[in-house]
Amino acid sequence: MSLVELIDLPSLGDERGSLVAIESLINIPFEVKRVYYIFGTNKGTSRGFHAHKNLQQLAVCVAGKCRFLLDDGKTKESVWLDSPKKGLIIGNNVWREMHDFSDDCVLLVLASAIYDERDYIRDFKEFLKIVNESGR
Ligand code: TYD
Repeated sequence: MSLVELIDLPSLGDERGSLVAIESLINIPFEVKRVYYIFGTNKGTSRGFHAHKNLQQLAVCVAGKCRFLLDDGKTKESVWLDSPKKGLIIGNNVWREMHDFSDDCVLLVLASAIYDERDYIRDFKEFLKIVNESGR
């Protein structure tokens, strides 16, 4: 199975312009408890560099673009989020890095739980240990 799970977010647009609706458990597979967005990212800056133990997220560039690098400890895959109609689902135990932010990028993230630093795995070596142990 591909690490990159993309979801089409169809536009309900008309002659006035575009509109995308995202509804918990209807067009995304989890209940949304938190929304955050990343914008004004400085040139050349990369973010992320962590995995989560128990968190579902949907990421979408509602403006501009950035590149996600996903890693499950065995495989690495890279995907551009470059459309407000393209959502990326990221599940548990997936290392993510975000690179190549455009100046105008607004990265919207919907998450299945409120912020909890204890859910983060921020050390890559620890991440590899966890995923390799769970795969046995
Ligand atoms: P961080 O996890 O470093 O962001 P990224 O993964 O994009 O590099 O988050 C930056 C700061 O914001 C850090 O101090 C934690 C805080 N934060 C919250 O308080 N709530 C949140 O929902 C998120 C995502 C981060």
